[in-house]
Amino acid sequence: MSKEQIEAINSLIVNRRSSYPKEYNGRQIEDAVVMQLLENANWAPNHGKTEPWRFKLFKGDALLALARFQADLYKKSTDDALFTQNKYDRFIEKAKLTSHVIAICMQKDPKGRIPEIEEISAVACAVQNIYLSLTAYDLRGYWSTGGGTYSAEMHNYLGLDQTQRCLGFFFLGMSDLPFREGKRGSIESKLI
Ligand SMILES: Cc1cc2nc3c(=O)[nH]c(=O)nc-3n(C[C@H](O)[C@H](O)[C@H](O)COP(=O)(O)O)c2cc1C
Repeated sequence: MSKEQIEAINSLIVNRRSSYPKEYNGRQIEDAVVMQLLENANWAPNHGKTEPWRFKLFKGDALLALARFQADLYKKSTDDALFTQNKYDRFIEKAKLTSHVIAICMQKDPKGRIPEIEEISAVACAVQNIYLSLTAYDLRGYWSTGGGTYSAEMHNYLGLDQTQRCLGFFFLGMSDLPFREGKRGSIESKLI
């Protein structure tokens, strides 16, 4: 790999950012590009060749229906005193600005050879591949663990069985705004 290519990869990693629907412009990403993001996710490292990542794609009416389901779930699971109509409405507003949502799921090793924490770790690596790839394509996105991610209701909504888990939702969109600047403490402070 040339010095320029290595610098490009270093810069891609540093400049990767989470971007939220309020930053999106409502434009749609081509399905072929979304499939390329998933293709790259499919090359994540994983223990025992289990390839435990599973994805469910939502766009258009299905994406709006998911947002309505999440808003209703929020209402159902929140005390009246804490519920705000603003937060309820935001589920729908966010969906309208978003191109695709990818439900991020994990399939446990059917033979039970691999500890679940390692299957979850492999899915997280797959998600990082999505993050890095969308940065290269100048797309926007973020991993959300809100919207009832771990609830039994969402498990059923996604049609998951007892060997599968929902780990969140990856929002994807396009934006006219630049990536925000990132913030990190030094790596030296994390050498323990
Ligand atoms: C496992 C995981 C769950 C996350 N869940 C949420 C979330 O529910 N809501 C949110 O706003 N951001 C969520 N994020 C994104 C983080 O807020 C974001 O990565 C962090 O602020 C660092 O910003 P950066 O990704 O731009 O570097 C999540 C990130 C990860 C890795």
